[in-house]
Amino acid sequence: MPLIVDKGLGNTIAAETTLSFIDGVKGVLEYVGYDIDSLARYSTFEETTWLLWHGHLPTAQELSAFTRQLQSEYCVDRRLLDVVRAIPRTAAPMDALRTLVSALAHFDTEADDPSLAANERKSIRLVAKTATLVALFDRYRKGKSFIEPDCSLSLAANFLWMLTGAKPTAPMARALDVCLVLHADHGLNASTFAARVTISTQSDMYSAATTAVGTLKGPLHGGANQEVMEMLVEIGDISKVDGYIASKLARKERIMGFGHRVYKAYDPRATYLKTFAKQVAADTGNLPLYEMTRRIEEIVLAQPNIVEKGIFPNVDFYSATTYYALGLDLDLFTCMFAASRMAGWTGHCIEQLAANKLIRPHADYRGPHGLTYQPLDQRGVPETSSTSPSCSAAMSVTA
Ligand SMILES: CC(C)(COP(=O)(O)OP(=O)(O)OC[C@H]1O[C@@H](n2cnc3c(N)ncnc32)[C@H](O)[C@@H]1OP(=O)(O)O)[C@@H](O)C(=O)NCCC(=O)NCCS
Repeated sequence: MPLIVDKGLGNTIAAETTLSFIDGVKGVLEYVGYDIDSLARYSTFEETTWLLWHGHLPTAQELSAFTRQLQSEYCVDRRLLDVVRAIPRTAAPMDALRTLVSALAHFDTEADDPSLAANERKSIRLVAKTATLVALFDRYRKGKSFIEPDCSLSLAANFLWMLTGAKPTAPMARALDVCLVLHADHGLNASTFAARVTISTQSDMYSAATTAVGTLKGPLHGGANQEVMEMLVEIGDISKVDGYIASKLARKERIMGFGHRVYKAYDPRATYLKTFAKQVAADTGNLPLYEMTRRIEEIVLAQPNIVEKGIFPNVDFYSATTYYALGLDLDLFTCMFAASRMAGWTGHCIEQLAANKLIRPHADYRGPHGLTYQPLDQRGVPETSSTSPSCSAAMSVTA
């Protein structure tokens, strides 16, 4: 087959999946055939995760057994608490999460068992423990004591409990649950692709999940929700929105929370969240914040050149104010995205392994050819000479 250059892989199909379907032109997202709007309205994160992994909705019995399995995995090995404490308190939570997801492998005797049954069990552990890790790190960095999980709660409610030490109200737990449902899977997005690349080498589930967390961190992917909130904080007041956005557009800067590689129509997750976020904002006294987002949307969508390019609000635009209204620190937003997308990442890894082919595209080499190798002593003297390296005190490993 002739090779084509497809930078960004926007015109390449690199996997087959039965997890989620996206029509970017019509603005459709379905998980296993169910449209995202119905799932956000009626499903829960636990049920949605089951759906993604099993390809059909669970019976009541299946759902309660699955929920119990997840709940029994909320806790982490005590030794992992020492790993949490070894991370600087100043670390960004996504960086801490990357380390901690990786560290989970050391306390799982099945980490390198490649069987389907073991991978399914590890998927449950990864989904159940990711939110726990986020809560543990946040409490540690604030100098607060760790809170034991409450295994009678949903994953969303337990996360809020472990984070704050207060049992969340039903609407608060539901608000987080809706966000988790909306973020659980999204085709071959960058982090899912990264996870599939890693597992395609027959590496392990924890390595794939760690790769995915690192990939999600970027502001062009999962980091955008934090940047949306930072923008709102920077603007500060609805009276300043027009001037702020106008000058950003004049400088040809991107407005965070707008645009999507696949959607050239309104992101269907944002459609649902737009209404939902308003309710959450009203319930929590954050309506002025919500009104700012609405005004930003109005201004941006009034720009003919923006709409022509198919740029609309994406899921991050309205999830940002929802997370904020729940009291989450800004730098935890992307971690919550990761806690949800863990369902998709693990589901994709198992799907990849079921019909695995090493993912290995080509690079279009643009460098020189045929150079003659010069021995080191014939390459001239470097401009600055350096002294021999020595271990800094902080790095010293001697007792
Ligand atoms: C998500 C994103 C990376 C997708 O980008 P993409 O499909 O690769 O499109 P490009 O980066 O090539 O941008 C295409 C054009 O749209 C413009 N554009 C894209 N996103 C924009 C935004 N948020 N604000 C203003 N203009 C934007 C680009 O400047 C470019 O314009 P040009 O053709 O005149 O140079 C991009 O829309 C973006 O950076 N959005 C902001 C970050 C964000 O919200 N990410 C979360 C995604 S869920």
